[in-house]
Amino acid sequence: MHPIAYYQQVVADYFETANLQKEPANLYAPVTYILSLGGKRIRPVLTLMAAEVFNADCREALPAAIAVEIFHNFSLVHDDIMDDAPLRRGHQTVHERWNINTGILSGDAMLILAYQYFEQYEPATFMQLAKLFSKTALEVCEGQQWDVDFEDRNDVTEPEYLKMIEYKTAVLLGAAMKMGGIVANTTHENCNLIYDFGRYLGIAFQLQDDYLDAFGNPETFGKQVGGDIIENKKTYLYLKALEYGNTVEKEQLLHWFGQQPENTAQKIESVKAIFTASGAHTATTAAIEAYTMNAFATLEQMDIAPEKKEVLRAFGQKLMKRSV
Ligand code: IPE
Ligand code: IPE
Ligand code: MG
Ligand code: MG
Ligand code: MG
Repeated sequence: MHPIAYYQQVVADYFETANLQKEPANLYAPVTYILSLGGKRIRPVLTLMAAEVFNADCREALPAAIAVEIFHNFSLVHDDIMDDAPLRRGHQTVHERWNINTGILSGDAMLILAYQYFEQYEPATFMQLAKLFSKTALEVCEGQQWDVDFEDRNDVTEPEYLKMIEYKTAVLLGAAMKMGGIVANTTHENCNLIYDFGRYLGIAFQLQDDYLDAFGNPETFGKQVGGDIIENKKTYLYLKALEYGNTVEKEQLLHWFGQQPENTAQKIESVKAIFTASGAHTATTAAIEAYTMNAFATLEQMDIAPEKKEVLRAFGQKLMKRSV
């Protein structure tokens, strides 16, 4: 196993040398644009790490890792249209820089491009990867639809929310890792355990994404801080504020989430104050930690060398402490 930085470099090297720009320029320019903005590239790193956990050379898993990252970028381009988001990775979103139609079609092209990467594998491996990928991609769509449906509801429950984030975000982290296991030809049991490790990490990851959307530093966050509040997203912060807040706080929160004011800055400040005062802020931090611990418990069940567990645990710790 290598240090985490090694896997990050393998992914960075690939994207630096790959030439994805073709004709028509307006279809592919947004593809190269969004990919060149980078991001944390967590998912491909997970695929490469998982392959080495199960004794393969991580380069064998590179096509699958790249497929996952391109799929993720596709989902961001469409997500930013759905969330009306102006900023991604510190730059204009694709639909802002070009237009919505370009975002839709370039996104579609990325989804297909992602699938093509699996063609580099032998039929038996291809079949397993494509099957997992299709199942996961459909679940991401289901999660995204729930996310949007919840914007118009004020009775979303915690189990509903948890299922929504599991689908829109966590299953892709699980699948990214399982793909490493598939390429390494490990046992079903190992594949399922590494999937669960990634899935729990993914739930913690989305909880933290919710947290940072409200409390991240606008200078470094790279996305519009307060975007979820503007869009009336039913985040963990929101649900916990309704659970723990006093009568006045709950009333105010429902009031803010029942309207779309001109002055969004005031809405964001007021809602953040409620998140903090109600204890939703600390409850979210605790949940991030709890789901990360669930991931680590899964790790304990795996029959792999302690130093491999250590690299995976370090990665989980690092994710928990992230600020972007
Ligand atoms: C953002 O994912 C979308 C979520 C699922 C929360 P990342 O936070 O991994 O985005 P990048 O790729 O690093 O920009
Ligand atoms: C995104 O969730 C999940 C997917 C892209 C599938 P968010 O809408 O919270 O992601 P960000 O905050 O825009 O990155
Ligand atoms: Mg979004
Ligand atoms: Mg979204
Ligand atoms: Mg978010």
